[in-house]
Amino acid sequence: MPEPKPFYVTTPIYYPNDAPHIGHAYTSVAADTLARWRRLWGDDVMFLTGTDEHGTKIQRAAEARGITPQEMVDGTSAQFEALTPLLDLTNTDFIRTTEPRHVRAVQEFLQVVYDNGDIELGTYEGLYCVACEAYYTDDELVGDNCPIHGRPVERVTEENWFFKLSRYEQRLLDHYAAHPDAVQPTTRRNEVLGFIKQGLADFSMSRKSVSWGIPLPWDPEQTCYVWFDALFNYCTASGYGTDAEKFARFWPPNYHLIAKDILRFHAVYWPAMLMAADLPLPQQVFAHGYLLVGGEKMSKTTLNQIAPQELVDEFGVDGFRYHFLREVHFGADGDISYEAMVARYNSDLANNFGNLANRVLNMAANYCDGLVPDTRADGPLVDAAAITFSALTDGMAKLDYSNGFGAVWDLIGATNSYIEDRQPWALNKAGDAAQTAAVLGDCLEALRVVALLASPLIPRATAELWRRLGFTTPITDERLPDAAGWGLLPAGATLDKGAPLFPRIET
Ligand code: MSP
Repeated sequence: MPEPKPFYVTTPIYYPNDAPHIGHAYTSVAADTLARWRRLWGDDVMFLTGTDEHGTKIQRAAEARGITPQEMVDGTSAQFEALTPLLDLTNTDFIRTTEPRHVRAVQEFLQVVYDNGDIELGTYEGLYCVACEAYYTDDELVGDNCPIHGRPVERVTEENWFFKLSRYEQRLLDHYAAHPDAVQPTTRRNEVLGFIKQGLADFSMSRKSVSWGIPLPWDPEQTCYVWFDALFNYCTASGYGTDAEKFARFWPPNYHLIAKDILRFHAVYWPAMLMAADLPLPQQVFAHGYLLVGGEKMSKTTLNQIAPQELVDEFGVDGFRYHFLREVHFGADGDISYEAMVARYNSDLANNFGNLANRVLNMAANYCDGLVPDTRADGPLVDAAAITFSALTDGMAKLDYSNGFGAVWDLIGATNSYIEDRQPWALNKAGDAAQTAAVLGDCLEALRVVALLASPLIPRATAELWRRLGFTTPITDERLPDAAGWGLLPAGATLDKGAPLFPRIET
């Protein structure tokens, strides 16, 4: 057994100014599917998510509710934490930026950057969007409003501390030239390069007027700008300042998964901040698109009525996870609708996958005494399974979930066609027990490969199918690439028909 390789994936840490919505769940499910996929390859996976709890946005949301910011974030952060059991997430940590471990780590980091001379005093006058927690220039506004939230910005003047971002322009360009995959997809990479080439201005990294934040070690009158504090969560959780061994093992991350709304922070500010402290840079920032409802970005302001819980109640955890990663090409924007969700669930999960499992297990019960036959035909499904595995592997290397897992549904389709073609019921009727068993042996083997390869995306139904196929060890104990080979289903194991894996949804 080779030593497990460390693998580190993150989601953004979400603002707990309100309850989580499907947009947050989307990134978390994508990160979880990747984490599970890497575990199947034997990696030692660190998977981080959490909440971003400081700053004006949180302070004001608390004021509006007449409670303290701490009271508010304690309540709403718990709702984000509850996404873990709700969506079968396997995050290994959940960080809250108000935790002492984070406050300590940020202060240590700030002092390093300050001592290195990259933080200087200055005066700031700017247009601030509280919803983004970011400044805009006049020409970035749409009318008088923030380009992301469409809300009025505020004019703010303050004496505060500046991070010398301008010093990092060339180093960032050099880094991105040397690491073409460091920002993906390519359109996002080009956007980042374009932004850097326009010239980078120093940015204000402290606030005098915001009390809800981490005090600067050398000027406790000022708190750290929320983004400066938030981005550092990725270091805190991997042990910066507290666990040198862990930090050496997991830093830098393999992937920061984010949506395109926070690309600049992750692909410009963040690497420069790390450079300022001589820390290695993340291998890849992948900025996916927006889930849109009727063409509008889904967010707390436009679609707070769809809670992940409602959809999980209706479609199950697997139905939820499956839908968004198959329906929307990761990287692009995608319109979502209830109708499309029902249609895809019924066709892909209930019909193609669920019915296949049902049919094969029932035939094996009727024609093979409910045992895995000790023979196979080794027909066309052998190649189909190999092609599926390689397509999924290629897809996951690019975070192309929809095509990657689409290949698993190709194998499901091929297995359904194989059954139509070979007609095991006719073989059985004709008394050809050997051929019946051989064909069903192929189908069961294909189901094994399907269960294994779909398990990072739909962990529940596949674990159940695994059990029904006669395995007594968990599916998560399997290791790729070997487990994707053909012919590994133990002959003679007892099958279990069970109830439909995905009951149809009638509307
Ligand atoms: N707190 C910051 C992130 C700090 S990371 C160091 C923040 N929080 S947020 O609550 O606004 O979450 C933004 C993220 O949530 C997006 O980058 C994306 O991952 C996810 N999404 C929120 N709405 C979404 C859609 N409508 N569609 C897709 N992803 C969505 O920004």
